[in-house]
Amino acid sequence: MISVVVLISGSGSNLLSLLQKSENPLYPAKIVAVGSDKNAPGLEHAELYEVDTFVVSPERFATKELWAATLLANVQHHQPDLVVLAGFMKVLPANFVAALKGKLINIHPSLLPEFKGAHAVRDALRAGATKTGVTVHYVDEGVDTGEIIVQSEVAIEPNDTEAVLHERIKKVEHELLASTIEQIAYKQLPALKL
Ligand code: GRF
Repeated sequence: MISVVVLISGSGSNLLSLLQKSENPLYPAKIVAVGSDKNAPGLEHAELYEVDTFVVSPERFATKELWAATLLANVQHHQPDLVVLAGFMKVLPANFVAALKGKLINIHPSLLPEFKGAHAVRDALRAGATKTGVTVHYVDEGVDTGEIIVQSEVAIEPNDTEAVLHERIKKVEHELLASTIEQIAYKQLPALKL
């Protein structure tokens, strides 16, 4: 059983899916805490599942590094084996990433290296792509540049809006993130660095 801290900024549908899956005693990961950079709506999922939460807002710190050091202290307090960015929308500075190297993964709604950044779904639609997808990757100091662990394709339909496409992508995200964490827990991934 591995222990996991999840960081979110938004609605937390990936978090909710993980919380639901980890109710199954056969699922090999336990969510020990959920953190955010703001009072994100998704924190309510953690509260319902009686999982500890913490919020560390960048506005309260003089520098990004000081903010990240406090965020890191809150994460490390829970001694996680793995830290999952599931819709965490702030770029984490080098001090945070270095301290968690190989233990920090992100889920992104495109087939990286295509469509990096915060508007990946919109950018894929605007580019006229016929397919996009989901990537789970290790986090490095860049934005969506870390080593790719796994990817899954999602077709783009002619009448897709950003919202419709993103919902379809999220369904794939929920399964891919859960199965990736499971593989990490069972040390089945070739790139495993835990
Ligand atoms: C997901 O599409 C994730 O890939 C991206 O942000 C979104 C978060 O969605 N990084 P949710 O908060 O889990 O619903």
